[in-house]
Amino acid sequence: MRKVYRGKDIEVSFDLDLCIHVAECLRGLPGAFDLNRRPWVLPDMAAADEVAEVVRLCPSGALLYRRLDGEPQEEHEGSTTVTPMRNGPLLVEGKVEVRREDGSIELLPRATLCRCGESQHKPFCDNQHIKVGFRAPGIPYRLHLSPVRPRLDQPISKAEDPRRN
Ligand code: SF4
Ligand code: FES
Repeated sequence: MRKVYRGKDIEVSFDLDLCIHVAECLRGLPGAFDLNRRPWVLPDMAAADEVAEVVRLCPSGALLYRRLDGEPQEEHEGSTTVTPMRNGPLLVEGKVEVRREDGSIELLPRATLCRCGESQHKPFCDNQHIKVGFRAPGIPYRLHLSPVRPRLDQPISKAEDPRRN
């Protein structure tokens, strides 16, 4: 379920079900993304360009933005690409059309899709690959401990995630 956080120049939305907890948001702009505050996303705490830049670093599509100030919306040039992340999901960048059972359609510019087979939220990764020790080649990415990734060997559950409400 996507929640919307509206600012003056930019609107940010967040879907916890898609998040893979790499905390680019918390590290990138701690003023705009602050777990100790409600709402945890306040887009006006930074310049709209900075917010957009950090949202684009979110690999999973959990965070999206919509510019309200007339500046260009996120666009992907060229074809849609699929890149395996080492020991983890497939990173898709481009145009991802998600058709849900209830008939709704969501367009994502980025997504991380399960390739270990263990996700409880397929086709999206939900970090179960960490629990099962999935190993497969792919592009390296650094894992940082954070309040949404308190341990390296276990995924955080949705119930434990400080952003669930
Ligand atoms: S995947 Fe989750 S933790 Fe990582 S940047 Fe996106 S919203 Fe933040
Ligand atoms: S690759 Fe992450 S849950 Fe399967």
